[in-house]
Amino acid sequence: MKLTTLFTYTFFATSIFASPTSERWAKQQESRDLPGELFHVGSPVDFGNVTFAPAGGSNVATNNWAGAAYGSPPVAGQAYELVTGQFTVPTASGISSVVSIWVGIDGYGNNIAIQGGIYITTDANGAATYQSWSEWYPDAPVFYDQGTFAFSPGDVLIIGIAVSAGATTADFIIENQTTGINLDITFSTTNTANAAIGQTVEWIVERPGSLTLMNFGTVDFSNTVAQTASQGVDLSNADTLAIRRSPTDNIIIAQGVKTGSNSLTITYLGP
Ligand SMILES: *[C@@H]1O[C@H](CO)[C@@H](O)[C@H](O)[C@H]1NC(C)=O
Ligand SMILES: *[C@@H]1O[C@H](CO)[C@@H](O)[C@H](O)[C@H]1NC(C)=O
Repeated sequence: MKLTTLFTYTFFATSIFASPTSERWAKQQESRDLPGELFHVGSPVDFGNVTFAPAGGSNVATNNWAGAAYGSPPVAGQAYELVTGQFTVPTASGISSVVSIWVGIDGYGNNIAIQGGIYITTDANGAATYQSWSEWYPDAPVFYDQGTFAFSPGDVLIIGIAVSAGATTADFIIENQTTGINLDITFSTTNTANAAIGQTVEWIVERPGSLTLMNFGTVDFSNTVAQTASQGVDLSNADTLAIRRSPTDNIIIAQGVKTGSNSLTITYLGP
């Protein structure tokens, strides 16, 4: 479906399931990379043979996020109100691993994040669980199981977050691009101190906390769009983000590379 139709579908979720992974999530939060801990790459970080294609922006190493992000709106005083992207669901692999793929507003240098996407885990036997989720960080995420929104490896999904600056309620949309079937829900924070600011946007593959990052192969984001009330941005001047294995080494385990003004490839590089 075209992006312009993304927000015209309305599908009311009749049930929002409590997270079967809430305990695991609590553990992740303990070690979660806080936005203020982002580390800007300088010469000390060795990216090896990795190549970047930034037409603008910086290359940034983080503990948890690979992809692309803007740390400010296109014009000072504006606020991001929408972020979307499209990607193909990777096939789960490995054991006891996790990968989260999402778009979001705020969180890249400020202390809230309004996010939504998918969350893939494997257990100790390699059995995979595919869920979608939204989160108004620092509140806990809400997970939606396959009964609420069904998707499979190989499906092309469009995900989007829409929110206005000052708001405490946002829209999360996830849609099977081919069928148009979608989940369109609102989610909120009850803490008005964490109202949306709209100063950053992100397209991310995440290793949550200190969990083992799944070998997801590559995730190709396309149709990456963010906009304020009056202006759209492509990826031209976005930062590209990479995940380093630990805060104390220079080994990059996943990395985002811009492949076009509206496309981005995130590659798993190793454990
Ligand atoms: C770069 O690639 C060469 C050839 O594949 C390899 O021998 C070398 O170890 C790589 N360097 C790094 C830092 O990964
Ligand atoms: C999503 O759309 C594709 C293409 O029509 C379809 O094959 C797939 O079954 C859909 N996914 C789900 C979970 O319905």
